[in-house]
Amino acid sequence: MNTTVSPEKTPSVYGQVQLGYVLVDSSRLADWKRFAADGIGMAVAENTASVLALRADAHARRLIVRSRPNEDVALGWQIEGDAALSTILERLAARKVPVEEFAGEQAALRGVERFWRFVGPKKQALELFTTPRLEGEPAKVIGSGFVTGARGLGHVAITTLKPDAMVKFWQEIFDARISDFIEDRISGINLKFTFMRVKPRHHSIAIGATRGVAMDPFVSKIQHLEMQVATLDDVAAAYRRCRALGFKIAMAVGQHTNDRDVSFYAVTPSGFYFELGWSSKGDEEAEAWPQVVHQGISLWGHKPQDHTLGDQLAQLRNGVMSLFRDEYTPF
Ligand SMILES: [Fe+2]
Repeated sequence: MNTTVSPEKTPSVYGQVQLGYVLVDSSRLADWKRFAADGIGMAVAENTASVLALRADAHARRLIVRSRPNEDVALGWQIEGDAALSTILERLAARKVPVEEFAGEQAALRGVERFWRFVGPKKQALELFTTPRLEGEPAKVIGSGFVTGARGLGHVAITTLKPDAMVKFWQEIFDARISDFIEDRISGINLKFTFMRVKPRHHSIAIGATRGVAMDPFVSKIQHLEMQVATLDDVAAAYRRCRALGFKIAMAVGQHTNDRDVSFYAVTPSGFYFELGWSSKGDEEAEAWPQVVHQGISLWGHKPQDHTLGDQLAQLRNGVMSLFRDEYTPF
């Protein structure tokens, strides 16, 4: 029986979706505080033995790190309005994807009133919410501030063994549109990235896959999380702070070919990367950009910095190991 519901049969939710929060499970809370607060410059909202919560703007929480023995990452997607939320839940139900609703303590941890949770591609927990808890006091961040608002918290990049299924998932459930593609050869591996937007910002999700034999060199659920800051000086200052604190820089400052982000990639205590960037481009331009294939992820820079031979071998080993496992897709 074909249970697929084409997105055309339900109203489009395009423009009503943005990355709202990221929930990290980690055993390294103290390192995460040094990284996210002292390095990246976010403001601490809660810091106990079991929870570290950080602010970037008016939202009570944007990044939450929960003490757990195993590293994991869940993504919280902010949906504009109950109608769009109902549409997404309807699409998941039509595909027999189980969804659980939460309020109370679990919602408070994430800084939202309530949320709906399901398991997405790669067995990643994806959570939906409409109403974030907001604070009256501005977030005491370092520097001139993070760019969020209509752009949401930032973007994520996810590596996959099944790029076609993953692209289809974001298209069918969230009406994601493809902005463009990038092909590049990184650490000796040929990669293709598909950049998808769920609103005018150039992308909220980037999907990375090897070309030829399908391999996944990253064991973490996301390859990187990106946030934007208000000025180029903020990027430079955070780069210097991360280095001074001894955090590894996977890729030094450079500029991307497609969204023109000027950014660097630091290695988080959980192993995935954190991209901090600044862009002169507005969201209107992203809508108009042609759907082309860029050759190379960067116009300049983004050179591997603290990426040792050991790191390269570990990624190669992860890639080879991924040949022997199947990747979960929800439908
Ligand atoms: Fe990125």
